[in-house]
Amino acid sequence: MNIIAPSYIYVDNNIVQNQAIAFDTTIKDIAPLKQLLLKFPTAKVIQLQTNSLVMPGLINAHVHLEFSANKDTLKYGHFLPWLYSVIKNRDALINSCDDVCVTKAIDTMLQSGTTSFGAVSSYGLDMQAIQNAHQNIVLFHEIIGSKAQMVDALFNDFKQRLDASRLLNKPNLYPAIAIHSPYSVHPVLLKKVIDIAKREKLPLSAHFLESKAEVDWLKQGSGDFQSFFNNLLQQNHPVTSISEFLSYFESIPTLMTHAVHATKQELIQLSNAGHTIIHCPISNRLLGNGALNINELHRHNVKWICATDGLSSNYTLNLFEEMKIALFMHHDADLLPLARKLLNSVTILAADALGLNSGEIKIGKNADMLVLDLPNPPSDQFALHLILHQYNISKVFINGQLV
Ligand code: BEZ
Ligand code: FE2
Repeated sequence: MNIIAPSYIYVDNNIVQNQAIAFDTTIKDIAPLKQLLLKFPTAKVIQLQTNSLVMPGLINAHVHLEFSANKDTLKYGHFLPWLYSVIKNRDALINSCDDVCVTKAIDTMLQSGTTSFGAVSSYGLDMQAIQNAHQNIVLFHEIIGSKAQMVDALFNDFKQRLDASRLLNKPNLYPAIAIHSPYSVHPVLLKKVIDIAKREKLPLSAHFLESKAEVDWLKQGSGDFQSFFNNLLQQNHPVTSISEFLSYFESIPTLMTHAVHATKQELIQLSNAGHTIIHCPISNRLLGNGALNINELHRHNVKWICATDGLSSNYTLNLFEEMKIALFMHHDADLLPLARKLLNSVTILAADALGLNSGEIKIGKNADMLVLDLPNPPSDQFALHLILHQYNISKVFINGQLV
C-alpha cells in the first residue's frame, strides 16, 4: 500500500485540501494523512511539496499512432487534398514509423499526462510499441473498404489483427473495433464487424460526418468525393446512407469521431442511441472541416469528449494543448464552464466512453494519477488555469505504479 499526501486533490471540478490518498493498483481510501496512517500503518508514504496537486491521469480516446512520422508531409487546409496526400504518402509514412517512432509518440503522451488512450490501428504495425507501453490502451482495430468484392479478404485481415492483439501479454490492453467511416466501409463488412463488437462487448468507434465532402457524397452522391470515388474506386454512388449507417449502431453505444457536419436530426439520433462524439478541434481546423457546434450538442444532450486524433492531422498529442485550442475555438461558450467540461471530457467522461475504471480520484478507481507542481494555491478559476498554464507534471502513476 502507498499513501500520497499532496496539498490539493482535484475531485469533481473541486479542490479538496488536507486529504491523502491510499492506493495499490486502485484507490483504497481518501482521508486525512493521520487517519490513513492508522488504517495502513505499513504503507509507504509519498509526501509531496507545498502546492502539489493530484488529479486523474488524462485519457485520449482517439489517436492514430501508425502515422506518427508525419510532420509536414501531409497537405492541410481542405479534406480531399489531405486525403489524396495520405494516399500518396501512406507507404512512406508508415514505413518510416518503426517501433522507435511509435514509442516516441506514446512517451510524449505520457509526459503530457495521458495515462490511457484509444489507438486506432490500421495495419497492426503499432502493436509491439503498444505492448511495451505503460499506459492503459484500448486498441481499436480499423476496418476499411467499400468494394463488395474485397469484403472477405479485408475481414480476414481485420480478424487476424484483432486475434493477434488478444494474445499480447499486457493486462491493461483492451482490444476494440474501429469502423473507418460511412463512406469507406461496405455495409456487409460493417455488419460483420459490428456483430463481433456486440457479441464480445468490445468498444466500438467510427469516424462520422467529418467533412462537408462526406455529407455531400452520402446524401447526394456529389461533391469533392465524387471524382475520388469515380476515379480511384470506380464507384458512382455511396455504399450506404447516413440513416442506414446509424441503424447498425442502434444498440451499441459508439465513439463517433468528429460529427462536425451532423444535422439536428442526426444529433438527436446520436443522443438517443447513447453515442459519444469525439471532438478533435485541431484536426478539424487543419483539415478544413470547421468547428463542432458544441452548443447544439448541449441542446440535444449529446455526450462529447475531446481527443487529439493522430499526428497525421495534428502537431501534438498533448491533451492540455488540445483543450487549450478547444477553449479558444469555442469563443461563444462561457469560459470557466467550458474549461471544466473539457477537463471532464478527458477524464471521467472519456473513461465512461471507453469503458475504463479510471478518470476520477475516487475510492475503487484505478490509481491513474498525475502530480502537478502548482506555483500558487489554486484559485477559484483553477480549471481554466490548468488548461492555460500546463503546469509541470512531476509524477505519473498508472495502476498505482510510478512510471
Ligand atoms: C475504400 O477503401 O473504399 C476507401 C478508402 C479511403 C477512403 C475512401 C474509401
Ligand atoms: Fe481519426
